[in-house]
Amino acid sequence: MTLDVVLGLQWGDEGKGKIVDVLADTYPVIARFQGGPNAGHSLHFEGNKIVLHTVPSGVFRQNATNIIGNGVVLDPIIFKKECETIVKMGVPVRERLAISKKTHLILPTHRIIDAAQEGAKGASKIGSTLKGIAPTYEDKIGRNGLRIGDILAPDFISKYNALKEKHIAYLKQYDFEYDPMQDEAEWLEAVEYLRSFNIVDSEYLVNELLGSGKKVLAEGAQGTMLDVDFGSYPFVTSSSTICAGACTGLGVSPKHVGRVYGIFKAYCTRVGSGPFPTEIFDETGEEIRRRGFEFGATTGRPRRTGWLDLVALKYAIMINGVTDLIMMKSDVLDTFDTIKVATSYIVDGKNHSQMPYGVDAEVTPVYREFPGWKRDLSKARKEEELPSEFLSYVKFIEQETGVSIKIISIGPDRDQTIIR
Ligand code: GDP
Ligand code: IMO
Ligand code: MG
Repeated sequence: MTLDVVLGLQWGDEGKGKIVDVLADTYPVIARFQGGPNAGHSLHFEGNKIVLHTVPSGVFRQNATNIIGNGVVLDPIIFKKECETIVKMGVPVRERLAISKKTHLILPTHRIIDAAQEGAKGASKIGSTLKGIAPTYEDKIGRNGLRIGDILAPDFISKYNALKEKHIAYLKQYDFEYDPMQDEAEWLEAVEYLRSFNIVDSEYLVNELLGSGKKVLAEGAQGTMLDVDFGSYPFVTSSSTICAGACTGLGVSPKHVGRVYGIFKAYCTRVGSGPFPTEIFDETGEEIRRRGFEFGATTGRPRRTGWLDLVALKYAIMINGVTDLIMMKSDVLDTFDTIKVATSYIVDGKNHSQMPYGVDAEVTPVYREFPGWKRDLSKARKEEELPSEFLSYVKFIEQETGVSIKIISIGPDRDQTIIR
């Protein structure tokens, strides 16, 4: 069977959590393959609202197996809180979840290093979520990291202390005050809690499930424009957010990849620093933020807002090999007289259809304008109920990208989803 992948095509927060929860009905296995608690995936169903940071968004579907893959980085404190909330909702999370032994652990000192590094960058800070993501991946690639499999070994505490001491020595270069014992007791208690979970060689598990005819849905975090290679470097996250990341983050061959679902908002948002060519700075941007409730699900920070950017979207479709597009938050644009879409950029006086290399490039988007539909989309349940102005907007995106929009989302709830 195939490994199908759901991933964000913009700067994160496209609505991946909602769509994975919707699709999880038809997938027996859901797997996270990268990122960590920098992610905040919101789910709304049957009157419940929840934000997941580490646990895959299939956890609320009764018969789904959820896997946290080797490509993920996990903070035991955040994981424990999240699982306790899920258990309170009556969901037996331990029975529905398997965690890779090779998943890397975020230590309290990783979070301290994240804050020290960001502080030292001053005005050029990345706008990190301060969850310790970059320092944990640095230790992974630098071959110093601790993995979940290590918590099962008798020498775990001495390994933990050795890495903590390395971090304390590293932090000496920063003029940064911190308490090296900060959160340590809570973290060690959360590691105990983590031990009671199903910790497995998840690459064997995923391949066995695929071999036995089960479809696997890989759930991306962040978005293509935050990818460590293809995003607006250095204003990116530290993992491979793209389709290829699902293979390395789960241990599955590319030959198993089937559908690639690319999720995008009907407009754009970005949280944190870095280039954002179609950003809107006036009242219209404010209205998108207000109507779309564009505040970070992890940090609560206001998200920057802008018009849909087809240069960036086509780039993301190319990098990921997207087979199906999913358009989110269409209802947020209900009230606007005019909807704009960037079709190319002017850089140095010339028209460009490709993403510029440098993050400092002066980019002026070239817009195409569409009449707004000025109707409430949120109650539609069938394509026939959607206004013609909106369908023209959808058709234009399909023509420009050459990919069909298979799902249209018109509200945060599971039910506010039109599958075409
Ligand atoms: P993720 O990180 O990609 O899972 O997305 P987030 O959960 O961070 O942000 C998406 C936000 O939009 C959440 O608050 C969702 O509940 C909400 N949302 C998802 N789809 C829609 C939609 O179609 N319309 C509206 N109005 N909100 C949506
Ligand atoms: P989901 O999965 C939006 C952004 C941060 C910052 C940059 C680096 O919910 O879509 P990091 O903490 O990873 O070192 O931050 O990436 N960022 C996100 N933006 N959605 C996310 O995840 C994000 N995860 C990280 O704001 O600009
Ligand atoms: Mg999010």
